[in-house]
Amino acid sequence: MALLDWNASLDLGVASMDAEHRELVAAMNRIHELDARAADKASIEAAIDRLVTLTKRHFADEEKHMAAIGFPDLKRHALIHQDMLKKVDVHCATFRAGNGRVERAFFDFLVYWLGAHIKGIDKRYAEFGTPAKV
Ligand SMILES: [Fe+2]
Ligand SMILES: [Fe+2]
Repeated sequence: MALLDWNASLDLGVASMDAEHRELVAAMNRIHELDARAADKASIEAAIDRLVTLTKRHFADEEKHMAAIGFPDLKRHALIHQDMLKKVDVHCATFRAGNGRVERAFFDFLVYWLGAHIKGIDKRYAEFGTPAKV
């Protein structure tokens, strides 16, 4: 069973950002799937590292997009991204120090991210507008 199923409410109508969000959801589901079948710690760690890499790239791309459309709340949104990366780092460190199983709190954080961040925070730039060409 997937941790998160993609659904229409997650689509922002900004093609490049929607594509990256889908990649993030797939990367989150991969971690969940590996943990559910008790995969070895190194495999799960590699999947977590991939999520972190994709996340950093996504946040940078999203901030560029917001700058391109002149989104006025970019600074605050970027601070929220920084805070999320710090929280991801803490969960990564907990995993590395642990027995190879992913804490429920990590998955709860990832689900929250999708629910509250994409639908609540990211939606604001999507509603603000799109550049002539991204
Ligand atoms: Fe996003
Ligand atoms: Fe965002």
